[in-house]
Amino acid sequence: MIKNFDYFVPVKVIFGAGRLEDTGTYVKEYGKKALIVTTGPFFKETGLVDRLMKILAKSGVESAHYYDISPNPLSTQVDAGAQFGREFGCDVLIGLGGGSAIDAAKGIAVAIGHNAPIWDYCPSGDPGDLTATSKTLPIIAITTTSGTGSHITPYAVITNPETKEKPGLGSDYTFPKVAIVDPELMLSVPPKITAATGFDILAHSIEAYTSEKSSPITDKMCEEAIRIVGRYLRRAVENGGDLEARTALAYADTLAGFSIAVAVITLCHSISHAVGGVCETVHGETLAAMTPHTMRYSMKFCPEKYKNIGLFLRDECCCEETDDDCSLEASVKEVEKLINDIGMNIPLSKQGVKESDFEEIANGTIKYMAGGLDNDLRKASKDDIIDILKKSF
Ligand SMILES: [Fe+2]
Repeated sequence: MIKNFDYFVPVKVIFGAGRLEDTGTYVKEYGKKALIVTTGPFFKETGLVDRLMKILAKSGVESAHYYDISPNPLSTQVDAGAQFGREFGCDVLIGLGGGSAIDAAKGIAVAIGHNAPIWDYCPSGDPGDLTATSKTLPIIAITTTSGTGSHITPYAVITNPETKEKPGLGSDYTFPKVAIVDPELMLSVPPKITAATGFDILAHSIEAYTSEKSSPITDKMCEEAIRIVGRYLRRAVENGGDLEARTALAYADTLAGFSIAVAVITLCHSISHAVGGVCETVHGETLAAMTPHTMRYSMKFCPEKYKNIGLFLRDECCCEETDDDCSLEASVKEVEKLINDIGMNIPLSKQGVKESDFEEIANGTIKYMAGGLDNDLRKASKDDIIDILKKSF
């Protein structure tokens, strides 16, 4: 029987090679002065920012560029970006890049709209956390990697450099109005970033698929996203110029984004946010180190779905009976095989994490990622989290 569910993801998706050229048509519906946000000056140097500014100008949209954003966007950087945007008089935000740029654009849209520091709107687990309202400026997402799903979700992950907390803010008002998904922009992404972001697609799909908030709609999207990752991620890592593989992964990233926007994430993302907050690790690498262990931890609480993950990765049908080839452990092994094949077998000890960080990571997970922990069908305790960190070390 189909269970009760809610589904609300109000994002217009403009998908396909060359679609960047259409950006102005959509941006002009929301504003006349756009602030383009990127992480660092890279896209200015490659000419992509100038190209986008020209596209916007053709639709009568003036634009400015803000790039002082790091790969794990800091609340201080978002506040400085908001100040820059206020002085420019921006009325619409464009996040151009991977998840960090899009998240930073969302953060700036909230900070300008509410005329407040962004940390007031980050759910750090403290009393007094605020939620973004309709005052949030409109956000346009132009994604240049495949993996974070941020072009579809309302979430923005912001790190507080003082407390080293890395929560995700989000409300019905922080969804991008429009997501431009142009696979041509992804052709030059280097193999290591392709692998790390590509693994993020898989982690989103596994977690949304097995989440307490999963629904029939998100299940179907997760299933397809996992199949596409199995078919195309190795190809894209091997040959970044493979437009068919890039397009397929961009689609899988979009499907996984539509899934986590509603079914959210579970245990692995919850811990990995805290790892990233304390140790500034690369999100996809941290997920790859921990996913096999979080799968083993939770799989008996949702065995059919966990068995299917390995089958979808091999592009086979759903499992109906339990046998040797269709076991839970075989599913984890299939994920581990992919991790090895794409060069993501990097234990936490090689990502700058120290055993002495475990306590702070576990405390952070419980303090501000409690919602994600609760979405996992097996509810992890602090000891469980430390045990998973040890196994991933
Ligand atoms: Fe992620």
